[in-house]
Amino acid sequence: FERGLLAGRHVLINAGPTREAIDPVRYISNHSSGKMGFALAEAAAEAGARVTLVAGPVNLPTPPRVERVDVITAVEMLAACEAALPADLFIGSAAVADYRPVTCAESKLKKEPGSDAGMTLELVRNPDILATLANHPQRPWCVGFAAETHDVLGYATDKLQRKNLELIIANDVSSTSIGFNSDDNAVTLIDRSLKPQALPQASKQKLARQIVAFIADKLNA
Ligand code: C5P
Repeated sequence: FERGLLAGRHVLINAGPTREAIDPVRYISNHSSGKMGFALAEAAAEAGARVTLVAGPVNLPTPPRVERVDVITAVEMLAACEAALPADLFIGSAAVADYRPVTCAESKLKKEPGSDAGMTLELVRNPDILATLANHPQRPWCVGFAAETHDVLGYATDKLQRKNLELIIANDVSSTSIGFNSDDNAVTLIDRSLKPQALPQASKQKLARQIVAFIADKLNA
């Protein structure tokens, strides 16, 4: 792993989940730990880049020499990412909530007394941060993640093209030993040549260095 691979580059990474408030005490979120994105930020900094890490609510220490911006919601995450431009490279590793409640209630929602009635929560779509940056006037080189349970390469290739990315990192989340909350992962890289390259199961730190080396190679070509 060469330390100067990303010297002089600004790398923007988002990581972790977003949290979408329902009322002052409740929210919608997901199980993303942020580990893969934080490992990528650490590897990019080791490779000599200036790194901005936009983090959702996670319980992880900031890697050395990484500038961290904490956010809660998808809308805040998009604003923080746009504010960090220009960047040479964007890695969208965050598990952005696809929907948010149409409004956040001002006070705690109460059950209807004496009733067993259910309730309906109205949701609206969140912005797609990755697609927004990939179509931005100050567009960086864009890398996305595709977490899929079946036809992993098919959906990942479709996402690469639909979101207008340089690289998609596919991971199979049907296995419990890798992915979302675990310390290990196994991924397949698909760039615009559409030739998949598998990186076998390893720690997220080791994979992050392999991914950073792969990206730097393309970026410097
Ligand atoms: O479409 P899907 O959510 O499967 O795509 C995953 C990729 O898109 C990830 O890189 C994720 O960070 C990004 N994404 C995003 N904003 C969203 C949804 C997904 O940036 N609202």
